Amino acid sequence: MTAPTHDWTIDQDWSAYTDAEHQVWTTLYDRQARLLPGRACDAFLDGLDKLNLHQGGIPDFARLNEDLGQLTGWSIVAVPGLVPDAVFFDHLAHRRFPAGRFIREAHQLDYLQEPDVFHDVFGHAPMLAEPVFADYMQAYGEGGLRAGRFAQLHHLARLYWHTVEFGLLETPAGLRIYGAGIVSSKKETLFSLEDPAPHRLGFNLERLMRTPYRIDDLQPTYFVIPSLDALLGATLQDFAPLYDRLADSTDIPIGVVLADDPKFAANRRELDGGESTSELSSRILTIEEDSNP
Ligand code: PHE
Ligand code: FE
Repeated sequence: MTAPTHDWTIDQDWSAYTDAEHQVWTTLYDRQARLLPGRACDAFLDGLDKLNLHQGGIPDFARLNEDLGQLTGWSIVAVPGLVPDAVFFDHLAHRRFPAGRFIREAHQLDYLQEPDVFHDVFGHAPMLAEPVFADYMQAYGEGGLRAGRFAQLHHLARLYWHTVEFGLLETPAGLRIYGAGIVSSKKETLFSLEDPAPHRLGFNLERLMRTPYRIDDLQPTYFVIPSLDALLGATLQDFAPLYDRLADSTDIPIGVVLADDPKFAANRRELDGGESTSELSSRILTIEEDSNP
């Protein structure tokens, strides 16, 4: 059953993965699992825990879907690569997340042009196990089918990009990641939270939809939501009037900050034990001094 069907799904063909492919999963999993406590939001970490994505290599979607289905009614379906927008939205509207089944090669751990099974499953599945986010993703799919009729897909796609893929969440303990594009990347995990370079701006639906994104590099700007409930709440309104306004609006280039944008500072870089930056830098200093002849 590997021939594409009308909805573009294919069999995952789990038994065809090689040991080397499973090993790539395990390497990436271990690397991110070490990095994410204190950086990914609780919903992501809880979902990761509940889905048992660390059972010896690339998860078997059939096994994963038993857990995910029980939690929120979502399932992961395998597709050959990027699928047409309408097919993608239809899957989301029915609580199916289309995932690539191939995995990057061992020499490409940090770079890939197309989403693979690590990005799609490690990055996206944990948040789909969270009830509010699960509803948001379904609503997004329904909204996508609708936006096509308004010729507003480019604006809606920005919402996906700046939330589902690259979103940050404000918490009392500091900024946390929920975006799949960040949690599945070591480099962007550190950059998005702790590097002084990027802008971290408060979430504003219309402003965000006026902001294009980069697909070829780290994001110069991240949008910070106050809560998952706030994200879902902001998107439950009818987008028709918003689309009308957007049709007459200009884009705000990705690196630009407006005077009334709420801004968030980078998190301080922390070690496992939660040491502050100053403790960390004094430790580095100590090591340097010790190593002096
Ligand atoms: N409320 C949007 C509309 O009217 C649909 C939507 C919901 C879009 C959630 C994105 C996220 O089209
Ligand atoms: Fe993705």
